[in-house]
Amino acid sequence: MRLYLGVFALLATVHCEELFNGDQVLRIQAEYESHIEVLKELEKNVDWGELLDRERGVMLHNAEMKSRAKGFNFAAYHNLEAIYSFMDTLVASHPDLISKVKIGSTYENRSMFALKFSTGGEKKPAIWIDAGIHAREWVSHASAVWIADRIATDFKENRAPVPSLLSKMDIFLMIVANPDGYVFSHISPRPFHRLWRKSRSVTSNPNCPGVDLNRNWDAEFSGPGASDDPCGEDYRGPSAQSEIEVKNIADFITSHGNFKSFMTLHAYSQLLMYPYAYNGSNAPDQPELVKKSTSINL
Ligand SMILES: *[C@@H]1O[C@H](CO)[C@@H](O)[C@H](O)[C@H]1NC(C)=O
Ligand SMILES: *[C@@H]1O[C@H](CO)[C@@H](O)[C@H](O)[C@H]1NC(C)=O
Repeated sequence: MRLYLGVFALLATVHCEELFNGDQVLRIQAEYESHIEVLKELEKNVDWGELLDRERGVMLHNAEMKSRAKGFNFAAYHNLEAIYSFMDTLVASHPDLISKVKIGSTYENRSMFALKFSTGGEKKPAIWIDAGIHAREWVSHASAVWIADRIATDFKENRAPVPSLLSKMDIFLMIVANPDGYVFSHISPRPFHRLWRKSRSVTSNPNCPGVDLNRNWDAEFSGPGASDDPCGEDYRGPSAQSEIEVKNIADFITSHGNFKSFMTLHAYSQLLMYPYAYNGSNAPDQPELVKKSTSINL
């Protein structure tokens, strides 16, 4: 029997200090029943309250450091407001390359923004990247923030391959694809909030709000790997694109009409996943996808 248990060691690493550098997620493969028993015990002993209090302490400390140093700490987690203000600062310092595009509003009426990296031209072939469709996966937002800064800096300093890529294509980067869920996951250091994954829309069950936005796309909707129970973590919603956040992104991409690539950043596992996910067949461009993914040095 095989059992994988992701031991969440967010803060429980050697020295707990200001940054999350060096934190680890461990994957353990249990071979015997006795191993599984040990892991179950370990899991029971995780003190979420304490872990989350410490995470919150680190965030407050980072916010203070930031206001003193007037810099942006790329090794820290930030709330929605700080990420949106980072986007404005980035746009202001690279006005010839970056603009902020509002693609709609969320269920709770928050703005959904994408950063557009473009060297000019109308509707050039484009790449879409989003992060944070699962609210609790904070490291995906943090990665997207870092990617935004890196694209800007590499372009400015003429570092390959960004300038040649941007001479032919535009990049749209949405750092927070699920703003309502992200804000909810910051409300207080309680596991119920911090581990929130879905959107915040009302469902048919008053006790169970939220749709797994990543299961709401109009692509093999309601197939395997999604739940029809509003209380499920992977609840797909009542119909394809029923959720305004998903619809906003789909409408934007469809009306643009020249997107060549769609990537989405998640946390958990060292995986690069590509189509098809819903059946065992290879996508037509399977050889190219394999070549690209295996050439990435992690
Ligand atoms: C939603 O937000 C916009 C501004 O972003 C505001 O003009 C509008 O009144 C808000 N609508 C609701 C229902 O709160
Ligand atoms: C898997 O999906 C693709 C695309 O929709 C389809 O062409 C293919 O026949 C499917 N394969 C199987 C085994 O159902």
